[in-house]
Amino acid sequence: MTTQIRKPGVLITGANGEMGHGLIEQLAKDGGKNIIALDVRAIDDGLKPLCTACIAGDILEERLLERLQSEYEIHTIYHLAAVLSTRAEFTPEAAHRVNVDGTMHLMKLAIEQSRWHGSPVKFMFPSSIAAYGLPDRETKKRAGKVKEEEWNTPRTMYGINKLYCEHLGRYYAHHYRQLAADTQRGGVDFRSIRFPGLISAFTVPSGGTSDYAPEMLHAAAQGKPYACFVREDVRIPFMAMPDAIQALLRLELAPRENLTRTAYNITAFSPSAGEIRTIVQQAFPGAVVSFSPDDRRQAIVDSWPAEIDDSAARHDWGWMPEFDQQRAFHEYLIPHIRTRYAT
Ligand SMILES: NC(=O)c1ccc[n+]([C@@H]2O[C@H](COP(=O)([O-])OP(=O)(O)OC[C@H]3O[C@@H](n4cnc5c(N)ncnc54)[C@H](O)[C@@H]3O)[C@@H](O)[C@H]2O)c1
Repeated sequence: MTTQIRKPGVLITGANGEMGHGLIEQLAKDGGKNIIALDVRAIDDGLKPLCTACIAGDILEERLLERLQSEYEIHTIYHLAAVLSTRAEFTPEAAHRVNVDGTMHLMKLAIEQSRWHGSPVKFMFPSSIAAYGLPDRETKKRAGKVKEEEWNTPRTMYGINKLYCEHLGRYYAHHYRQLAADTQRGGVDFRSIRFPGLISAFTVPSGGTSDYAPEMLHAAAQGKPYACFVREDVRIPFMAMPDAIQALLRLELAPRENLTRTAYNITAFSPSAGEIRTIVQQAFPGAVVSFSPDDRRQAIVDSWPAEIDDSAARHDWGWMPEFDQQRAFHEYLIPHIRTRYAT
């Protein structure tokens, strides 16, 4: 009989998504990690050489998770797979299954892995400003920089799922089977970031409600007119994708004892949709951007804060965006997006 040697690795779910692309490229550049990429869609050919294993499968399939448990030694899980905010409103029950039941499956995998190899599994979970729910525009104006525990009354299935999974993570990290005789603490080292809207120069989003900013840019670069689905004065926080990736990696490396919470706000800049149009039209003269608000999507964006307070992340693990608004648009987004569509 041969003993199978399992290589320690990092599992990324939702690996073929926007964040997955950025994360896999950065982890591969940093080197030293076996990347196990999992997505319900086939992993893009460009990412395959960067990964030790590419698995096409659904996080809801128990057999798939059993296979992961038996074949791999996993020390970190980046659980990125999700049904995003706009898409979730069309199929809320299915979104709940992926976003909540799927997360439970991964938590269970983390517990089993940590039992097997004897050390805690770091569980990195991207939450969202969708976890907030301000009741109306007046309150949003008055709210200022919203802290993590304020306005936790989301109005979307996606936001509710994210908020609940943050709590689930806290439970698995600190209170899992707290009454059982064989209780074993510390199996899951859960760390979550509430991300603002993310803008990537290299991938085009789909299914989110902050998509108007990246859509505006990508349309302008292709010479296509764009009708923005929110009002010109609407404001929510955004971040360039490389900062989001760096934040995940930085939080993962932070010493456990420095962390005072399981879910952290982070932010970079908060332009209005009208300000984004001005930047886009300066970069792409002649770009046609109109505002044609969809009342229902607008209402969702109106329930998200204009600004969030990320002082806990700055204090506990040294969060600091590299890309402010000027750098994000003029040094990252516009040059790369211009090149992307130039050929
Ligand atoms: N993009 C943003 O602006 C933003 C902001 C805040 C938080 N987030 C969170 O970051 C994470 C990554 O977001 P993204 O922008 O890369 O989204 P994305 O939609 O581009 O990627 C999600 C990936 O998950 C995969 N997936 C969906 N259901 C699955 C299932 N049942 N099994 C396996 N894979 C499945 C999809 O195929 C997709 O590739 C998500 O959890 C999202 O909620 C994103």
